[in-house]
Amino acid sequence: MMSGIKGNKCTLKRRLILWVLLTNIMLVLYCLMNPTQVKIRGSQQDTCPLSIAKLKENVSMPSQSTEECSPTVDIMFMKTHKTASSTILNILFRFGEKHKLKFALPDGRNDFFYPSPFLCSQVKDYRPGDCFNIICNHMRFDHQEVAKLLPPDAVYITIVRDPVDLFESSFNYYHRAVPLTWRINGENKLAEFLNSPQTFYSPQAFNSFYLKNLLFFDFGFDNNLEGDDPRVMRNIHNLSKHFDLVLVAEYFEESLILLKDTLCWTMEDIMYFKLNARRSSSVSRLTPELRAKALKWNGADWRLYQHFNATFWARVEAYGRERMKQEVNELRRRNAAMKAICVEDGDAVEAQKIQDRRFLPWQPVGESSILGFVS
Ligand SMILES: *[C@@H]1O[C@H](CO)[C@@H](O)[C@H](O)[C@H]1NC(C)=O
Ligand SMILES: *[C@@H]1O[C@H](CO)[C@@H](O)[C@H](O)[C@H]1NC(C)=O
Ligand SMILES: *[C@@H]1O[C@H](CO)[C@@H](O)[C@H](O)[C@H]1NC(C)=O
Repeated sequence: MMSGIKGNKCTLKRRLILWVLLTNIMLVLYCLMNPTQVKIRGSQQDTCPLSIAKLKENVSMPSQSTEECSPTVDIMFMKTHKTASSTILNILFRFGEKHKLKFALPDGRNDFFYPSPFLCSQVKDYRPGDCFNIICNHMRFDHQEVAKLLPPDAVYITIVRDPVDLFESSFNYYHRAVPLTWRINGENKLAEFLNSPQTFYSPQAFNSFYLKNLLFFDFGFDNNLEGDDPRVMRNIHNLSKHFDLVLVAEYFEESLILLKDTLCWTMEDIMYFKLNARRSSSVSRLTPELRAKALKWNGADWRLYQHFNATFWARVEAYGRERMKQEVNELRRRNAAMKAICVEDGDAVEAQKIQDRRFLPWQPVGESSILGFVS
């Protein structure tokens, strides 16, 4: 692709300088545009009143389950990177639209100033005391800030994924945005990186969090902790206190069934289009040796994943394995039936054949790829 080593280095340098310049300009602009941001954080009186929870009584629902419950409408979905979280987002937006719920949305972009820690003042048109039903866009989690926007009994949900696959996916997607990795030569940049991560990684480097313990970073923790650092397990236990349900991307259908059960929703509410068959480029190319290295490199995420995988399966156990199997089959059957109506012989979707608007995939503004792992 590039001609000589010299030319290569020059281009890189020029790119780096350009990048730094651009970043500085953006930072200056950002500071000019948001002079009040830091001040707002200090005010403690802007907590969310309980009253919005009353909405719950107004959601009508054809009750199918034997137990009495009313559907949850106050939800925090902590959207993690590279975890199929966009499919969940789609489901939440569809439910919210159906029930006219109030979303706390980012202002003019599709995340809350990620990777800056979340501040309630980042919500579009925010006024202290404002209350919302659902928060679900990308953010760097901060429980205290989120809690100011939701009723105290809001349900907190998130999703995790095997950190090796997540790392691979994140590396392939973001390595061009992390300057130190520009130096990696060769076909298999991921292998080069894993064989010598310290050469190509610095905690201070711009965007470096994309390349180490990204889940840990998303949840607001220090992503440079090693897996055996005692703070890792303490962080994980703190986190688990805040979340009512942690889904696992590897068990996506089971996750949706637990979601439905936790929120007292219907099967219809969790139906989804799986538009993207996993592209061959996104299938893992890691050898067992490299997988082991990726796992060690992302040791904190690995601890986190193991913890929430265990709590997930304990939930499945409590729900009932057989009951889970039946529900997953039912979900598959209904997703397939929906697909058969909407996509015939692989032809374009005929809109008039989608009889129920509720099944249309909802595409939030700015989301380039709405479904699945490659988003
Ligand atoms: C709930 O329903 C009642 C009666 O149908 C109505 O008066 C009230 O405004 C509704 N509340 C909300 C928050 O929609
Ligand atoms: C865990 O939470 C407690 C109280 O909320 C806090 O004092 C402590 O510093 C937290 N520990 C870690 C490791 O985050
Ligand atoms: C997750 O839990 C399941 C069920 O206990 C187990 O089979 C699987 O090996 C676990 N995965 C990891 C990565 O620990």
